[in-house]
Amino acid sequence: MKHFLDIHKTDPSDLRGMIDQARVMKDARAGKPKGTPDAEQPLANHMVALIFEKPSTRTRVSFDVGVRQMGGQTMVLSGSEMQLGHGETIADTARVLSRYVDLIMMRTFEETTLLEMAEYATVPVINGLTDRTHPCQIMADIMTYEEHRGPIAGKKVVWSGDGNNVCASLIHAAGQFGFDITFTGPQTLDPEAEFLALANSKGVSATIERDPMKAAEGADLIVTDTWVSMHDPQSAKERRHNQLRGYQINDRLMARANPDALFMHCLPAHREDEVTSDVMDGPHSVVFDEAENRLHAQKAVMRWCLGV
Ligand code: CP
Repeated sequence: MKHFLDIHKTDPSDLRGMIDQARVMKDARAGKPKGTPDAEQPLANHMVALIFEKPSTRTRVSFDVGVRQMGGQTMVLSGSEMQLGHGETIADTARVLSRYVDLIMMRTFEETTLLEMAEYATVPVINGLTDRTHPCQIMADIMTYEEHRGPIAGKKVVWSGDGNNVCASLIHAAGQFGFDITFTGPQTLDPEAEFLALANSKGVSATIERDPMKAAEGADLIVTDTWVSMHDPQSAKERRHNQLRGYQINDRLMARANPDALFMHCLPAHREDEVTSDVMDGPHSVVFDEAENRLHAQKAVMRWCLGV
């Protein structure tokens, strides 16, 4: 069973294969209308369940379109409308869904929910985001960096802001793809120490630098995300903004990075909070390529899961 649960749980050669395949599939579609079926239809006769217990624009649409381009069919399910939201166990839900569909993509809150789904499903399960990690996003980010600048191995990547679930998967990717990562943000929002230690154990540098200007020195890629994630209480908003104001990505910060540095944000962005519009719409920004590449990267992830 090939579940795609996290980047650090997936073999680096498999991750590399997915990125390369995504690139080939993207190139093959160049210039064609979005609804054009892929020349190859590896998901023909396959049914995919897309379960969302949290809101989504990119993940929902990119998985749905990706399955259809590859000849498969989808059903989009909201957690609250399923019996899952009304007392049926995750294990029973996994067993039942596995009788109907060939693949399950799940966006949920607790990581344990995803892991239980994977444990009891007899079809592959893909992590479409939990409170702890967001591996599909980072597969798209790696693909995006490499299509603009070549291999990411050996590069310096800086995450500024909240050490959240997207940051966690980026740290996992540092170890698997061989790039250095610096986190800059307030101590209370540090990423998990075990994730940094894991990356360091794989021979890359995963460090914390409290001063964002120092952190950005010589960066090849600067990444941020919203200051208040979906699982954070809205009551934390004002405190978060006060804590994180100094970690905004603006022209002054980008000027510390290498001249050809890229800027990424998984979106949705809160312009003028974590990033200024000058940077979002400026020459370093590749945020909309990043969003597009969710489609291509996830198509490769699904093919890997299904072995097709
Ligand atoms: N980046 C991301 O996962 O976007 P959505 O929340 O819109 O899916």
